Amino acid sequence: MFVFAALLSNSTHAVEFASGEQVFSRCRACHALARNRVGPALCGVVGRKAGSMPKYPYSRAMADWGKVWTENELSSFLEDPMKARPGTKMGYAGIKNDQERLALIKFLAAAAVNSDLCAADN
Ligand code: HEC
Repeated sequence: MFVFAALLSNSTHAVEFASGEQVFSRCRACHALARNRVGPALCGVVGRKAGSMPKYPYSRAMADWGKVWTENELSSFLEDPMKARPGTKMGYAGIKNDQERLALIKFLAAAAVNSDLCAADN
């Protein structure tokens, strides 16, 4: 029984994780985890101050926002970026589906600085 429960919770986690990574493939048009591209590097973004990635040329709107990217703040921004922060240069319509956004944010939280995910994306 115990083994079964452990397997079940592992596999649930794996599914959620895989779909978060799939949702992130939409972000890869502009972002990488470990380096700045069209958009800033996203390794360690959960807990980071908005507009603070070194050597990335942010819009004034993002650089001056003064927010910290908690999971909740990420969720409201990613639902509709240009509405959440007028003046941002992230030209993306957003992720309207709550479950996709949640899975994506769990993926980003797992991609902490020095995590295996980030090392693999270098
Ligand atoms: C069309 C290109 C593009 C796409 C697609 C895109 N972004 Fe962005 N993103 C940007 C740009 C450009 C910025 C910088 C915004 C600014 O300076 O105003 C940015 C900024 C961000 C930031 C703020 C980071 C910081 O350092 O403060 C986060 C978080 C973010 N993007 C997450 C995502 C996620 C997650 C996705 C996928 C759902 C995504 N973006 C899709 C271009 C994109």
